[in-house]
Amino acid sequence: MARIFSGIQPTGIATLGNYLGALRNWVALQEGEDEGIYCLVDLHAITVFQDPAALREQTRQMAALLLACGIDPERSVLFHQSAVSAHARLGWIFNCVARMGWLKRMTQFKDKAGKDQEAVSTGLFVYPNLMAADIHAYHATKVPVGDDQLQHIELANDIAEKFNHDFGVAFFPRIEAVVQKESARVMSLRDGTKKMSKSDPSDMSRINMTDTADVIAQKIKKAKTDPEPLPEHVKDLEGRPEARNLVGIYAAIMGQKPHEVLHQFAGSGFGPFKQRLADVLVAHVEPIGRRTREYLADPTALDHVLQAGARKAEAIAEPIVREAERLVGFLPRG
Ligand code: TYM
Repeated sequence: MARIFSGIQPTGIATLGNYLGALRNWVALQEGEDEGIYCLVDLHAITVFQDPAALREQTRQMAALLLACGIDPERSVLFHQSAVSAHARLGWIFNCVARMGWLKRMTQFKDKAGKDQEAVSTGLFVYPNLMAADIHAYHATKVPVGDDQLQHIELANDIAEKFNHDFGVAFFPRIEAVVQKESARVMSLRDGTKKMSKSDPSDMSRINMTDTADVIAQKIKKAKTDPEPLPEHVKDLEGRPEARNLVGIYAAIMGQKPHEVLHQFAGSGFGPFKQRLADVLVAHVEPIGRRTREYLADPTALDHVLQAGARKAEAIAEPIVREAERLVGFLPRG
């Protein structure tokens, strides 16, 4: 049995990108043998200022959404990161293992910091060290993510290797990203070269998992496309990022390959294809939004689910992180 770990930031509302790239796989992985640990990474969220009341609200909202997607707290461990101190403690040790040069290469930091790197929080810079700690605190080896996280996973392996080397141990295992090929990167509905993101200023650029049927249909109708009909072959989607993205979304939702989708729609204009796409998205996403609202109606019950999850998470992480602290040379906590 392997251990799976993954996380999502409780900022904004999860998008179709989060769902197809990550959340749906977390649910599917529950059917296997492996133990799944899923974390609402609130420590990561505050690397960018969050209004405290909104953070609390969004953490509950994300918990509700994960339950609505099918994460079962009896089979998986679901909790909020700040409730388990092992993350921050191992994160600090990793701050002292990772090298400045490694972090400076992180493209996500460069993207998020933009032109004014002097003005962002130091937490944003060391964020990948905490992410490495999240995974290694559980000796997890499989990490289901979208492809924007791959560089961070590589870094987590570099950190583990250096820790093992510096302290002459084989303590942290290698980890492996589990990426869903067809939906590893869902793109914006307004610009097929940009990732669909909760932080995009335009709400029309994304499907939120709590959007109503009307909103979903409207967003797909307005999604950017090009004037050509859909081609017969996948290779002819090259240079047509918006068309490729919509075909990819349809394929991912229907569990098909892009060539099967084209087989069905080749020669069709975007009108009928978008209509079909909107229908399948509504059928898939709307019930999740509805269930999310039902879970959100009882915030105390949600808090209890997360707190029970945190106790289970702590029972796994605490001995591992204590051993890391011992290896580093800290005296026992007693
Ligand atoms: P976050 O909150 O940005 O995204 C959560 C998950 O959704 C995936 N994702 C996408 N996949 C496909 N297409 C998209 N447009 C898209 N947008 C987001 C992300 O790849 C991710 O899997 N650093 C992480 C959270 C984290 C974490 C961890 C993940 C913290 N610690 C440990 C794994 C293991 C993040 O910001 O994800």
